[in-house]
Amino acid sequence: MDRTIKRKSEHLDIVLSRDVSNREITTGLERVRFEHVALPELDLDDIDLSTEFLGRRLAAPFLISSMTGGPEAAAEINKAIAKAANAAGVAFGIGSQRVALEHGGADAGLDRSLRALAPDVPILANFGAAQLLDWKDPAEDARRAVDMIDADGLIIHLNPLQEAVQAEGDRKWAGIRARLTDVVAASQVPVIVKEVGCGISADVAGALWETGVRIIDVAGAGGTSWAAVEAERAPDSGRRAVADAFRGWGIPTARCITSVRQACPEATIISSGGIRTGLDVARSIRLGADLAGQAAGLLDAALDGAERLRRHIAIMTEQLRVACFCSGSRNLAELRTAKLQDPVN
Ligand SMILES: Cc1cc2nc3c(=O)[nH]c(=O)nc-3n(C[C@H](O)[C@H](O)[C@H](O)COP(=O)(O)O)c2cc1C
Repeated sequence: MDRTIKRKSEHLDIVLSRDVSNREITTGLERVRFEHVALPELDLDDIDLSTEFLGRRLAAPFLISSMTGGPEAAAEINKAIAKAANAAGVAFGIGSQRVALEHGGADAGLDRSLRALAPDVPILANFGAAQLLDWKDPAEDARRAVDMIDADGLIIHLNPLQEAVQAEGDRKWAGIRARLTDVVAASQVPVIVKEVGCGISADVAGALWETGVRIIDVAGAGGTSWAAVEAERAPDSGRRAVADAFRGWGIPTARCITSVRQACPEATIISSGGIRTGLDVARSIRLGADLAGQAAGLLDAALDGAERLRRHIAIMTEQLRVACFCSGSRNLAELRTAKLQDPVN
């Protein structure tokens, strides 16, 4: 089995079967407490949760975050996610297309059949920033990634900690920024840059803005810890010890949102990393996010199929609606300025 494919399958199994949460720190979202409105002058069913993203209307500000799991698992999960996302009216990102780009896509189910299942919602292509140095013509590969699935946007993920603690990880990162600038300039769709659970700081957000990136998914700390995942699959005790020390590394999701919003007032910000409920989505929006994404928290539902995932999203949406109702917010714009009880961070 190709090493990249084997690694992706191991990641999926580990996330499903072990505790790979950050453990040391939380997202900080739990400290965002809305002032309860005991007399909301509005009807629950009149609350409008819709928003626009990449030129399409979403029923709720929600993104199913990118996940890979090796080709066999990925094909089935991607189909379920595409169906559920379209039924629920939310955006979804597919997992890394690296294998598909390097070895051909159809076998992983990464083709335009996903668009046929999800004609109405934004679909996002994905690969890692480290590939920008490996590939001869990254702008061309970026175009192929987008064309492969007829995507509305391209996610490039930053995962330096994961690469650093992975035995076979990419150790060369110098020069990625210049390559990113070229890819953003050449891309036919908006480029979104995300972390994978360690967060984006104000300084990094500023650097990304300079490369031309206008959409940032903070993927902060408090949820899945990729150092923990890599510690679980380390080939020896030394590697395991290096990875394990960084289990709690990263910037909590709540802090990322406030500092990225300050650094880039005009950016579209996606809150992710440890999102558990629709209340976490509400808290994220109150802190300055436009959308919220979830990965590990919906994986179980996604593996059960489209219908169970659709129900999972319906629950998150209802939680967000109740948060709007009990904070007296008619829509997401009002939620953004709803009163809080305490200082946030
Ligand atoms: C099984 C699994 C596979 C993932 N694969 C990818 C990937 O291929 N590309 C990517 O950008 N992020 C990937 N991620 C990271 C998530 O998109 C997300 O940023 C991270 O898990 C933090 O969110 P969470 O706390 O909701 O899990 C993966 C996550 C999981 C759980």
